[in-house]
Amino acid sequence: MLIDTHCHLFYDDLKNDLPAVLDRAKELDVTHFICVGTNMDDSRSSLLLSQTNQNIFASAGVHPHDAKNAPMDFIDQIYELMSFDGMVAVGEMGLDYYRNISDPEIQKSVFRDQMNIAQELKKPVIFHNRDADTDLIKILSEFPDVIGVSHCFSSTIETAQIFMDMGYYISFSGNLTFKNSHLSEVAKNVPLDRTLVETDCPFLSPVPYRGKPNEPGRTRFVAEKLSDIHDVSLEVIAERTTANAVKLFNLKL
Ligand code: NI
Repeated sequence: MLIDTHCHLFYDDLKNDLPAVLDRAKELDVTHFICVGTNMDDSRSSLLLSQTNQNIFASAGVHPHDAKNAPMDFIDQIYELMSFDGMVAVGEMGLDYYRNISDPEIQKSVFRDQMNIAQELKKPVIFHNRDADTDLIKILSEFPDVIGVSHCFSSTIETAQIFMDMGYYISFSGNLTFKNSHLSEVAKNVPLDRTLVETDCPFLSPVPYRGKPNEPGRTRFVAEKLSDIHDVSLEVIAERTTANAVKLFNLKL
Protein backbone atom coordinates (compact mmCIF):
# COMPACT_ATOMS: atom_id res chain seq x y z
CA MET A 1 0.00 0.00 0.00
CA LEU A 2 1.02 3.57 -0.69
CA ILE A 3 0.11 6.80 1.10
CA ASP A 4 -0.29 10.04 -0.82
CA THR A 5 1.23 12.31 1.83
CA HIS A 6 0.29 15.55 0.07
CA CYS A 7 -2.90 16.09 -1.88
CA HIS A 8 -5.47 18.88 -2.13
CA LEU A 9 -8.74 16.97 -2.39
CA PHE A 10 -10.86 20.08 -1.71
CA TYR A 11 -10.52 21.31 -5.30
CA ASP A 12 -13.88 20.87 -7.05
CA ASP A 13 -12.76 18.42 -9.73
CA LEU A 14 -11.48 16.03 -7.06
CA LYS A 15 -14.06 16.73 -4.33
CA ASN A 16 -17.10 16.42 -6.57
CA ASP A 17 -15.93 13.05 -7.87
CA LEU A 18 -14.27 11.82 -4.69
CA PRO A 19 -15.64 8.23 -4.45
CA ALA A 20 -14.47 7.51 -8.01
CA VAL A 21 -11.14 9.30 -7.45
CA LEU A 22 -10.47 7.22 -4.33
CA ASP A 23 -11.58 3.99 -6.06
CA ARG A 24 -9.12 4.63 -8.87
CA ALA A 25 -6.42 5.28 -6.26
CA LYS A 26 -7.23 2.01 -4.51
CA GLU A 27 -6.84 0.13 -7.79
CA LEU A 28 -3.29 1.51 -7.90
CA ASP A 29 -2.79 0.46 -4.24
CA VAL A 30 -2.86 4.05 -2.95
CA THR A 31 -5.05 3.64 0.10
CA HIS A 32 -4.50 6.60 2.45
CA PHE A 33 -4.27 10.33 1.91
CA ILE A 34 -3.13 13.47 3.70
CA CYS A 35 -5.28 16.35 2.49
CA VAL A 36 -3.21 19.48 3.01
CA GLY A 37 -4.81 22.86 3.76
CA THR A 38 -3.41 25.98 2.11
CA ASN A 39 -5.56 28.65 3.77
CA MET A 40 -8.25 28.70 6.44
CA ASP A 41 -11.16 27.75 4.16
CA ASP A 42 -9.25 24.89 2.55
CA SER A 43 -7.99 23.70 5.93
CA ARG A 44 -11.60 23.55 7.13
CA SER A 45 -12.58 21.60 4.00
CA SER A 46 -9.67 19.24 4.62
CA LEU A 47 -10.83 18.64 8.19
CA LEU A 48 -14.34 17.91 6.91
CA LEU A 49 -13.02 15.41 4.36
CA SER A 50 -11.02 13.66 7.09
CA GLN A 51 -14.15 13.41 9.21
CA THR A 52 -16.17 11.80 6.43
CA ASN A 53 -13.56 9.28 5.26
CA GLN A 54 -11.37 7.30 7.65
CA ASN A 55 -8.61 6.92 5.06
CA ILE A 56 -8.18 10.69 4.74
CA PHE A 57 -6.06 12.65 7.22
CA ALA A 58 -5.71 16.43 7.13
CA SER A 59 -3.52 19.40 7.96
CA ALA A 60 -4.15 23.07 8.63
CA GLY A 61 -1.97 25.92 7.49
CA VAL A 62 -1.29 28.93 5.30
CA HIS A 63 0.59 28.45 2.02
CA PRO A 64 3.16 31.16 1.19
CA HIS A 65 0.97 32.25 -1.77
CA ASP A 66 -1.92 32.75 0.67
CA ALA A 67 0.18 34.44 3.37
CA LYS A 68 -0.81 37.96 2.32
CA ASN A 69 -4.50 37.07 2.71
CA ALA A 70 -4.21 35.26 6.05
CA PRO A 71 -6.93 36.49 8.40
CA MET A 72 -5.81 38.39 11.53
CA ASP A 73 -6.74 35.44 13.72
CA PHE A 74 -5.21 32.68 11.58
CA ILE A 75 -3.05 31.49 14.48
CA ASP A 76 -6.12 30.94 16.68
CA GLN A 77 -7.90 29.26 13.79
CA ILE A 78 -5.04 26.82 13.21
CA TYR A 79 -4.95 25.94 16.93
CA GLU A 80 -8.70 25.32 16.82
CA LEU A 81 -8.50 23.17 13.68
CA MET A 82 -5.57 21.17 15.07
CA SER A 83 -7.65 20.18 18.12
CA PHE A 84 -9.68 17.70 16.02
CA ASP A 85 -8.82 14.02 15.53
CA GLY A 86 -7.34 13.28 12.13
CA MET A 87 -5.38 16.54 11.96
CA VAL A 88 -1.84 15.23 11.58
CA ALA A 89 0.35 18.22 10.68
CA VAL A 90 0.63 21.99 10.49
CA GLY A 91 0.99 23.30 6.95
CA GLU A 92 1.17 23.83 4.08
CA MET A 93 3.55 26.60 5.09
CA GLY A 94 6.86 27.83 3.73
CA LEU A 95 8.48 30.21 1.28
CA ASP A 96 8.07 30.72 -2.46
CA TYR A 97 10.47 33.28 -3.92
CA TYR A 98 9.89 31.97 -7.45
CA ARG A 99 6.42 33.43 -7.74
CA ASN A 100 6.52 35.86 -4.80
CA ILE A 101 2.73 36.09 -4.76
CA SER A 102 3.00 37.29 -1.16
CA ASP A 103 5.69 39.74 -0.09
CA PRO A 104 8.73 37.80 1.24
CA GLU A 105 8.56 39.56 4.62
CA ILE A 106 4.93 38.48 5.04
CA GLN A 107 5.82 34.95 3.90
CA LYS A 108 8.56 34.73 6.54
CA SER A 109 6.40 36.06 9.32
CA VAL A 110 3.45 33.73 8.58
CA PHE A 111 5.88 30.80 8.22
CA ARG A 112 7.50 31.51 11.61
CA ASP A 113 4.08 31.80 13.28
CA GLN A 114 3.18 28.34 12.00
CA MET A 115 6.52 26.81 13.02
CA ASN A 116 5.79 28.15 16.46
CA ILE A 117 2.37 26.47 16.53
CA ALA A 118 3.95 23.16 15.47
CA GLN A 119 6.53 23.50 18.22
CA GLU A 120 3.85 24.21 20.83
CA LEU A 121 1.64 21.33 19.67
CA LYS A 122 4.54 18.95 19.00
CA LYS A 123 3.16 18.28 15.53
CA PRO A 124 5.15 17.81 12.30
CA VAL A 125 5.14 20.48 9.61
CA ILE A 126 4.60 20.24 5.86
CA PHE A 127 6.58 22.91 4.08
CA HIS A 128 6.84 24.27 0.55
CA ASN A 129 10.17 25.65 -0.70
CA ARG A 130 10.70 27.30 -4.05
CA ASP A 131 13.93 29.19 -4.66
CA ALA A 132 14.15 30.06 -0.96
CA ASP A 133 16.73 27.59 0.41
CA THR A 134 18.74 30.08 2.47
CA ASP A 135 15.86 31.72 4.33
CA LEU A 136 14.08 28.43 4.71
CA ILE A 137 17.06 26.72 6.33
CA LYS A 138 17.48 29.73 8.61
CA ILE A 139 13.88 29.62 9.83
CA LEU A 140 13.84 25.83 10.29
CA SER A 141 17.02 26.09 12.35
CA GLU A 142 15.27 28.51 14.73
CA PHE A 143 12.96 25.64 15.71
CA PRO A 144 15.28 22.69 16.44
CA ASP A 145 12.55 20.60 18.10
CA VAL A 146 10.26 20.67 15.05
CA ILE A 147 10.41 18.01 12.35
CA GLY A 148 8.37 17.44 9.23
CA VAL A 149 8.65 17.13 5.49
CA SER A 150 10.04 19.14 2.60
CA HIS A 151 7.12 18.57 0.27
CA CYS A 152 7.48 18.32 -3.52
CA PHE A 153 11.24 18.56 -3.17
CA SER A 154 12.79 20.39 -6.11
CA SER A 155 16.09 21.76 -4.78
CA THR A 156 19.64 20.38 -4.66
CA ILE A 157 21.11 17.37 -2.89
CA GLU A 158 23.05 19.75 -0.63
CA THR A 159 19.81 21.32 0.56
CA ALA A 160 18.19 17.89 0.94
CA GLN A 161 21.11 16.87 3.14
CA ILE A 162 20.74 19.96 5.34
CA PHE A 163 17.02 19.27 5.76
CA MET A 164 17.75 15.63 6.62
CA ASP A 165 20.43 16.64 9.12
CA MET A 166 17.74 18.71 10.84
CA GLY A 167 15.47 15.66 11.02
CA TYR A 168 13.22 16.34 8.05
CA TYR A 169 11.91 13.91 5.48
CA ILE A 170 12.11 14.53 1.73
CA SER A 171 8.94 14.01 -0.30
CA PHE A 172 8.96 13.43 -4.05
CA SER A 173 6.07 14.16 -6.36
CA GLY A 174 5.31 13.92 -10.10
CA ASN A 175 8.19 16.16 -11.14
CA LEU A 176 10.53 13.29 -10.21
CA THR A 177 9.22 11.48 -13.31
CA PHE A 178 9.84 14.36 -15.73
CA LYS A 179 12.40 13.73 -18.44
CA ASN A 180 15.87 15.15 -17.71
CA SER A 181 14.92 16.09 -14.14
CA HIS A 182 17.87 16.54 -11.80
CA LEU A 183 15.68 15.02 -9.09
CA SER A 184 16.55 11.42 -9.98
CA GLU A 185 20.10 12.13 -8.86
CA VAL A 186 18.79 13.80 -5.68
CA ALA A 187 16.42 10.90 -4.91
CA LYS A 188 19.26 8.41 -5.30
CA ASN A 189 21.07 10.21 -2.48
CA VAL A 190 18.10 10.41 -0.14
CA PRO A 191 18.02 7.21 1.96
CA LEU A 192 14.75 5.29 1.82
CA ASP A 193 14.22 5.82 5.54
CA ARG A 194 13.87 9.55 4.80
CA THR A 195 11.78 9.33 1.63
CA LEU A 196 8.07 10.07 1.25
CA VAL A 197 5.82 10.04 -1.82
CA GLU A 198 2.99 12.35 -2.81
CA THR A 199 1.08 13.77 -5.78
CA ASP A 200 0.41 17.41 -4.79
CA CYS A 201 -2.75 16.85 -6.87
CA PRO A 202 -4.49 18.44 -8.70
CA PHE A 203 -1.08 19.86 -9.71
CA LEU A 204 2.05 18.24 -11.15
CA SER A 205 0.76 15.11 -12.86
CA PRO A 206 3.54 12.58 -13.36
CA VAL A 207 4.53 11.02 -16.66
CA PRO A 208 2.54 9.54 -18.50
CA TYR A 209 -0.13 12.08 -17.47
CA ARG A 210 2.07 15.17 -17.51
CA GLY A 211 0.04 18.34 -18.17
CA LYS A 212 -3.27 16.72 -17.20
CA PRO A 213 -5.13 17.26 -13.91
CA ASN A 214 -3.55 15.07 -11.26
CA GLU A 215 -5.19 12.74 -8.75
CA PRO A 216 -3.98 10.83 -5.69
CA GLY A 217 -3.68 7.39 -7.33
CA ARG A 218 -0.77 8.68 -9.35
CA THR A 219 1.41 8.46 -6.26
CA ARG A 220 1.97 5.03 -7.79
CA PHE A 221 4.01 6.46 -10.67
CA VAL A 222 6.26 8.37 -8.29
CA ALA A 223 6.82 5.18 -6.31
CA GLU A 224 7.58 3.22 -9.50
CA LYS A 225 10.14 5.83 -10.51
CA LEU A 226 11.77 5.52 -7.07
CA SER A 227 11.89 1.75 -7.48
CA ASP A 228 13.86 2.27 -10.74
CA ILE A 229 16.15 4.84 -9.15
CA HIS A 230 16.96 2.71 -6.09
CA ASP A 231 16.84 -0.56 -8.02
CA VAL A 232 14.50 -2.19 -5.51
CA SER A 233 11.00 -3.60 -5.94
CA LEU A 234 7.89 -1.44 -5.81
CA GLU A 235 6.92 -3.40 -2.68
CA VAL A 236 10.06 -2.20 -0.90
CA ILE A 237 9.34 1.41 -1.86
CA ALA A 238 5.74 1.03 -0.68
CA GLU A 239 6.72 -0.55 2.63
CA ARG A 240 9.43 1.97 3.43
CA THR A 241 7.58 5.14 2.43
CA THR A 242 4.41 4.00 4.19
CA ALA A 243 6.34 3.24 7.37
CA ASN A 244 7.94 6.68 7.19
CA ALA A 245 4.58 8.42 6.77
CA VAL A 246 3.02 6.47 9.64
CA LYS A 247 5.95 7.37 11.89
CA LEU A 248 6.25 11.04 10.97
CA PHE A 249 2.53 11.83 11.07
CA ASN A 250 1.67 9.32 13.81
CA LEU A 251 -1.05 7.86 11.57
CA LYS A 252 -3.58 5.43 12.98
CA LEU A 253 -4.34 3.31 9.92
NI1 NI B 1 0.61 21.55 -2.02
